[in-house]
Amino acid sequence: MMHEEIGFEQIRNWLGQRCGISYSDQKKDLLLQRLNRVQRAFGIERLSDMSRRLQDVAEHDLQLAVMHAASTNHTYFFREMDVLDKFRDNILPSLANRNEIRIWSAACSSGDEAFTLAIIIAETLGMAALNKTLILGTDISAPVVERAEAGIFGGRQLDQVPSHLLSKYFKPIGMGQYQVVDAIRSRCTFRRLNLKTTPYPFKQPFQVVFCRNILYYFDIADQKATVDAIYDVTEPGGWLITSVTESVRDLSTRWQPAGTSINRKEGRNK
Ligand SMILES: C[S@@+](CC[C@H](N)C(=O)[O-])C[C@H]1O[C@@H](n2cnc3c(N)ncnc32)[C@H](O)[C@@H]1O
Repeated sequence: MMHEEIGFEQIRNWLGQRCGISYSDQKKDLLLQRLNRVQRAFGIERLSDMSRRLQDVAEHDLQLAVMHAASTNHTYFFREMDVLDKFRDNILPSLANRNEIRIWSAACSSGDEAFTLAIIIAETLGMAALNKTLILGTDISAPVVERAEAGIFGGRQLDQVPSHLLSKYFKPIGMGQYQVVDAIRSRCTFRRLNLKTTPYPFKQPFQVVFCRNILYYFDIADQKATVDAIYDVTEPGGWLITSVTESVRDLSTRWQPAGTSINRKEGRNK
């Protein structure tokens, strides 16, 4: 193997081990393009140099840049409405009387899912319920977490937002951009978190965890470790929601399948 190929393979392994992001041989070119961008930004001539620097704890900025470049951040508001409808109709009513509604959007990208959930809660249970709701959005990539915190969106990310909800929950700020209104934004908090770093550091359990369009980047062992760790931070009787293309059923975990994309933790909440 050529020196550069060895460097590339080392970075591919680093991404797998550190972030659980696996790139198949068919996607090698895509990863190479993405790494080239980081090389240019950091003025790194060779992938072998990049690989060596990634091993150094002091190279935090480079590590973050490689993680961000390698992850696909595609997301949008009201994604996969079928499962959101089930959340609204079958799960939300059971949370209406809780003192606090706690939801985690794991691998949230720019926050579209977290804000969508807050809007659904406001529409379904009303503002009083929204005001006792905490939605945590986390992602491995620092730039997307910053975008979520700004709450500014435009273009295709908003295509699925019904027009009456766009005028109710977004304020136009010019150039086709909209900012999520404060009533929604104030219920959503965003943090950087690597799903591969288990156990997760939460003091209080969540009633519902959304973990969508991320598991398929992980190999089977990481998928299992992730949904197991999510189980441990979910309250008894709580829910894990994945995307239609991701199945927890085959991973032999403690989750009970409860319909397409929906899984339930055993036990009853207090
Ligand atoms: C395709 S987006 C999915 C966003 C959203 N959940 C949705 O369904 O629309 C995948 C996100 O996972 C994040 N990600 C990748 N590896 C991760 C990891 N190890 N820990 C946390 N987030 C990760 C990426 O940065 C990216 O923003």
